[in-house]
Amino acid sequence: MSVTILAIESSCDETSASVCRDGVILSNRIANQTVHEKYGGVVPELASRAHMQNIVPVVHTALREAFPLASDPVEILQTIDAIAFTQSPGLIGSLLVGTQFAKSLALSLQVPLIAVHHMQAHVLANLIAEERPEFPFLCLTVSGGHTQIVLARSPLDLEVIGQTIDDAAGEAFDKSAKLLGLPYPGGPLIDKYAKEGNPHAFPFAEPQIPGLDFSFSGLKTSVRYFLQKQTPEFIQEKRNDLCASVQHTIIQILLKKVKKAVRQTGVNKVCIAGGVSANSGLRKSLQEMGEAQGWQTFIPAFEYCTDNAAMIAITAYYKYHAGQFAGLEASPSARAEW
Ligand code: KG4
Ligand code: ZN
Repeated sequence: MSVTILAIESSCDETSASVCRDGVILSNRIANQTVHEKYGGVVPELASRAHMQNIVPVVHTALREAFPLASDPVEILQTIDAIAFTQSPGLIGSLLVGTQFAKSLALSLQVPLIAVHHMQAHVLANLIAEERPEFPFLCLTVSGGHTQIVLARSPLDLEVIGQTIDDAAGEAFDKSAKLLGLPYPGGPLIDKYAKEGNPHAFPFAEPQIPGLDFSFSGLKTSVRYFLQKQTPEFIQEKRNDLCASVQHTIIQILLKKVKKAVRQTGVNKVCIAGGVSANSGLRKSLQEMGEAQGWQTFIPAFEYCTDNAAMIAITAYYKYHAGQFAGLEASPSARAEW
């Protein structure tokens, strides 16, 4: 039996909708919110309002793109077998918009509802490509709010075996960028300038955290203290070297723990996921480390790294087949353990 799922993602500042048929992504539309740039971070109230404005057009275009030959939107909606949405974690006002929209649509179409955990979905984004990892695999999930090493035994059996004890890797990028006078979100800009810089120009301290956990707050402090002693001219002139050095330190912190996780678990298939996995330095370093260590590495396409509904759709596809449906009383949650 063929299964078509419409998925909605609205956990932070991207409104996204995707259609997936039998595990194949037919469309993945993403509306970015630029309104936050001038505030140096996501403003929750503004994010919720932008989701309200974006959600109908984004869903509409995702459906149209998935079924280009259909002329009638009602005809398209009748082919949908389930509605999926991001339930947690995220900004509560943002999650509420997607949740309410998904529930209303499921109710009116009389189809089941599937609630998806955003961080699990980031991991399963690695199952979208044709060349996908076999289970078990390890996934380094690095986003604006999380940094985790996940042991994936099957699509719905995921275990966090290491995580950050303070800032996330994305925060380390964004906060360092802010100290360098770059606008939000600074991660992609550090990536851009780092390409022209020397990664060994400024050695920033790496934390000594036991086990598979991470810490990034020390790096932020070390960047701040260093910059406080420099003139604005120096910072401007050395921008590329500073970006390359910060990025190099973050990558070292991440990959050292991945190496340790492979050693501890004996699992040598390694994926990355989350917004920071769009970082070109991290992608390259993981691939090189994989080649040197004899691992199989998997890196999702850019559009499936940052927040997107295709990863919600693929997760929902596995939940549909496992019979894991949500009731119409389902409500979002800002924080969620798994
Ligand atoms: O997964 P995501 O889109 O949203 C969350 O769930 O947090 O991740 C956003 C984070 C931000 O911190 C952003 O700066 C970072 O991902 N990011 C990058 C790059 N692209 C996005 N960091 C470094 N290099 C990039 N190219
Ligand atoms: Zn995310």
